[in-house]
Amino acid sequence: MLLELQRIDFGFHQEAPILQGFDMQVAAGEFVALLGPSGCGKSTLLNLAAGLLLPLAGAVRFNGAYLHGINRNVGYMTQGDTLLPWNTVAKNILLPLELRGTPLQERMDSLERALKLVNLTQARDKYPSELSGGMKRRALLARSLIYGPPMLLMDEPFGALDAQLRETMHQELLTTVNRLQESVLFVTHDISESILLADRVLVLGGRPLRVLEETRIPWGKERRLDEIRKTGEYAALESHVRELLRIADAEQHAAARA
Ligand SMILES: Nc1ncnc2c1ncn2[C@@H]1O[C@H](COP(=O)(O)OP(=O)(O)O)[C@@H](O)[C@H]1O
Ligand SMILES: [Mg+2]
Repeated sequence: MLLELQRIDFGFHQEAPILQGFDMQVAAGEFVALLGPSGCGKSTLLNLAAGLLLPLAGAVRFNGAYLHGINRNVGYMTQGDTLLPWNTVAKNILLPLELRGTPLQERMDSLERALKLVNLTQARDKYPSELSGGMKRRALLARSLIYGPPMLLMDEPFGALDAQLRETMHQELLTTVNRLQESVLFVTHDISESILLADRVLVLGGRPLRVLEETRIPWGKERRLDEIRKTGEYAALESHVRELLRIADAEQHAAARA
């Protein structure tokens, strides 16, 4: 297993524990989507995987090794626009390597690869204010991938995009992560997004958090999203997961009132 969360306990002050004995695994090369009501603990799981939060009990393991601090083997991409406005695309993407003190030649080689990967070679000298929404997302993706982490953590990375652009980004993301054989842990509250992108969808809910259901997605890696959307199998999966999520939402509201 690439990522293992083992019997994790976690909570913030003055709140019922979010996690109690929580288990989760992501295999190498696997794309796992986490779906669940707002506030259930999805971002908390990503932060534990990234080593930004430490469990109160239990362990996070990456590639078999116990994680005790920041996980340097993951790239992290969120919904926010965190490009530095005073830096060009190239300088923004290079930032993680500069922070690591990577040698110049290696930095430049990695930059060329990353720019090519997300199709931004022509835009390397532009500033963030000159980029479209899609180009910004691609620059952020390149920045998350530049040091070659085997796993990407994505927290609603396309949440702020309009529907059409989101569809484009979905196919682009799959092409990119398949090319790199990247593992992905992807948080969303968009049902169709989870079913289209993931190999496995975990519907989460409750406090402490539980996996309400694990759904295997049958499309395989080389998927054509525009084709899948038209199938009855997709529609059936979508309504199945929608129902699960409705139950999780209802539980969440009931718990909030209690
Ligand atoms: N830094 C924090 N301090 C205190 N409580 C927090 C903090 N971050 C998140 N929480 C609480 O933890 C719970 C889970 O949050 P989060 O993981 O962000 O949920 P999700 O990403 O599923 O919307 C929520 O009730 C939230 O209010
Ligand atoms: Mg969140």
